[in-house]
Amino acid sequence: MSCVPLPLPRALEAVLASADAESLRRATSRLVEVYRSGAPPAAQVLADPVAATAYAAYRMPATHAALVRILRDADRLGALDGVRSLLDLGGGTGAAAWAAADTMPGLESATVLDGSADALALGRQVARHGPPAVAGATWVRADLGALAGLPAADLVTISYVLGELADPLHGPLLDAAMGAGGLVLVAEPGTPRGFAAVLAARDRLVAAGWHLVAPCPQPGPCPVAQRDGDWCHFSARLDRSALHRRLKGATLGHEDEKYSYLLASREPLSPSLARVLRHPQTRKGMVTLEVCRADGTAGPEVVTKRDRERYRAARDAAWGDPWRDPGR
Ligand SMILES: C[S@@+](CC[C@H](N)C(=O)[O-])C[C@H]1O[C@@H](n2cnc3c(N)ncnc32)[C@H](O)[C@@H]1O
Repeated sequence: MSCVPLPLPRALEAVLASADAESLRRATSRLVEVYRSGAPPAAQVLADPVAATAYAAYRMPATHAALVRILRDADRLGALDGVRSLLDLGGGTGAAAWAAADTMPGLESATVLDGSADALALGRQVARHGPPAVAGATWVRADLGALAGLPAADLVTISYVLGELADPLHGPLLDAAMGAGGLVLVAEPGTPRGFAAVLAARDRLVAAGWHLVAPCPQPGPCPVAQRDGDWCHFSARLDRSALHRRLKGATLGHEDEKYSYLLASREPLSPSLARVLRHPQTRKGMVTLEVCRADGTAGPEVVTKRDRERYRAARDAAWGDPWRDPGR
């Protein structure tokens, strides 16, 4: 074990180096199939050490990348000031604890709760190489369908979990998260199904009087959900390790993880900002941003070079960024 904390990819390399490549490849193919099917699995997915290792090798880097992007954006808005503790529900191998520690150096403690003993055991092993809050995390085996007595935490994460749970369990899980934390983050794959789960979570949080922090700039009906065939999602780029490439039979050195998410707080924070919903389209002297706005609408904002300050801001904006329109 190293005394200097390693970043997640290096920690994974250190722990996974000795894994048998052929059984990992087979386990990865099984996981890909389960996750592609889209339906909640009938039985525990990370049910043995090889499945947990395959998850850590090929999915954890991607969920970690999405969570880092979400938390960095939230941190830039000041939404994470004062977050010292994390409770990660369905935390698996600990992606959210790593992402929180990577984003918030002030993080002091993390509790990872999951039903898979093998995911928790592997997560704990990888975490030993991490920064203090990760290395010292508490790993708890529990069923998300029967939660009681959760520890209080500043931030509660439910990351890539709702899709694995039957619909009737979503509401009680969100209620438990709201009961335990001051901020709740829900993240799901950036698919129509993932977005639908996030949207239902949004309804529940708003109905409970919680305040939306990101990405939504307002608590009313979601304008993206009202468009046929559209869904609100974002993208995070990550480098693929050699093992990651081998397991997926991939040649590209990177991948783009698409995600949908919602961050909400019990107490009101500073007003939420409009959000850039697509890659900005840049043509000579003109940037078009697809924006979700605080007035409950979503649509294009065309910014031309004549409007110098707005143009500069629009040129720097990226998909998923808050849009602080300097012209308004
Ligand atoms: C796709 S993994 C996500 C892991 C982690 N949150 C991440 O973002 O990488 C889903 C996790 O939910 C856990 N899970 C699913 N159903 C559960 C249940 N009923 N009780 C406890 N954990 C459950 C699984 O064991 C698995 O670790």
